[in-house]
Amino acid sequence: MTLFVNPDRLRADFDALAAIGAVNANTDAPGVHRPSLSPAHLAARQWFLARAAAAGLETAVDAAGNHSAIWRARRFAAPIRTLLLGSHLDSVPNGGRFDGALGVLAALEALRTVQEAGVALPVDLEAIDFTDEEGTLVGELGSNALAGSLTPAMLAQPRGGRAALEAGLARAGLSEAALFTARRDPATLAGYLELHIEQGPRLTQSAIAIGVVTAIVGITSYRLTYTGRANHAGTTPMDARQDAGLGAATFTLTAREMVVRDFPGCAVNVGQMRFEPGAFNIIPGLAELALEFRASDAQRLSELEDTLLSLAGLVARQSGLQLALEPLGGCVPAPMSARAQAAITAAADSLALTHIELVSGAGHDAQVLAPLTPSGMIFVPSRAGLSHSPDEFTAWDDCVNGANVLLRAALKLAETAA
Ligand code: HGY
Ligand code: MN
Ligand code: MN
Repeated sequence: MTLFVNPDRLRADFDALAAIGAVNANTDAPGVHRPSLSPAHLAARQWFLARAAAAGLETAVDAAGNHSAIWRARRFAAPIRTLLLGSHLDSVPNGGRFDGALGVLAALEALRTVQEAGVALPVDLEAIDFTDEEGTLVGELGSNALAGSLTPAMLAQPRGGRAALEAGLARAGLSEAALFTARRDPATLAGYLELHIEQGPRLTQSAIAIGVVTAIVGITSYRLTYTGRANHAGTTPMDARQDAGLGAATFTLTAREMVVRDFPGCAVNVGQMRFEPGAFNIIPGLAELALEFRASDAQRLSELEDTLLSLAGLVARQSGLQLALEPLGGCVPAPMSARAQAAITAAADSLALTHIELVSGAGHDAQVLAPLTPSGMIFVPSRAGLSHSPDEFTAWDDCVNGANVLLRAALKLAETAA
């Protein structure tokens, strides 16, 4: 059956959702600020459930706060498994309105289209919005809870801090202990598909419509704290300083040079740098850095970790500083299912859409689901490769292409799941 999504209905949802937590509204770069479990994020989740209910779909919220719309297959004798289609409604601070949102809305639209068409499938379909994909609290929290891979250690030192996590859980009416009860039996799952913007330049540079994701990078985070000695910025001789700010800057610059030289295809980022006491005329006595690094292979990620932590220690010794390293978790690289990739490729071909295979430089919930159930991702182009910014943009035709590929790939995966 050559089904198509309803582009106008999808667009109406997209515009309505983009207004929840909107920043830069009425500019040529409207974004969203919906950090996980923030009031704006919770409002977006309520909106999603209302849209699902308005379509006559079942709705559910699990103990990890994952929000779902569910389409039930016509009952067959065999136990029915569930094909998950989803992404996330939370955003990075002042982020884009496509990251995550497009995948959740396309999943909802796929369920409505199947329901309207009266398609008989051997699996249930579930459009799911995972909690805290972006890691403003923990990182892929909801998908790890569903997969059963959430650990107390991940919650003990979350990269967003314990206070933010506790406040978010309380605001959402979630309990930390109950997070661990959200685990799904893999035998009940038929697979996972996610539509997402590429968040990089490859599709747009090659004028290709669809990315078939082959693997997703692993990510590791640390907080580094250099401690020196606060002192007078004017009277302290330049060769007699224990300047924590200089250590932080030296590490950041050297780490980048080293990764570019020795770790092609990998990434390192210092996304936050904070000095104390933090005045024009005081040599920083303390510098705190938010370090994150990525590799598509577990061995390379481990080598990168060893190399960066050794560098951090060397800079401390050379600068006369103390160094504290706080591991803040991360996620492991994951290959995407060949069966899911084949379904996505066949769906793109059925729509005469060009496609290439891509490794994802961004982390996604699909990497958490991959060890559990056949998982796949569909990418659509990001204008100028921009993301995690209000400048994030994907042409609407590309969004609709992605939603149609998601719909048809889901139907193909459902058929083979029987
Ligand atoms: O940070 C990432 O890679 C993703 O956007 N969460
Ligand atoms: Mn995302
Ligand atoms: Mn993101």
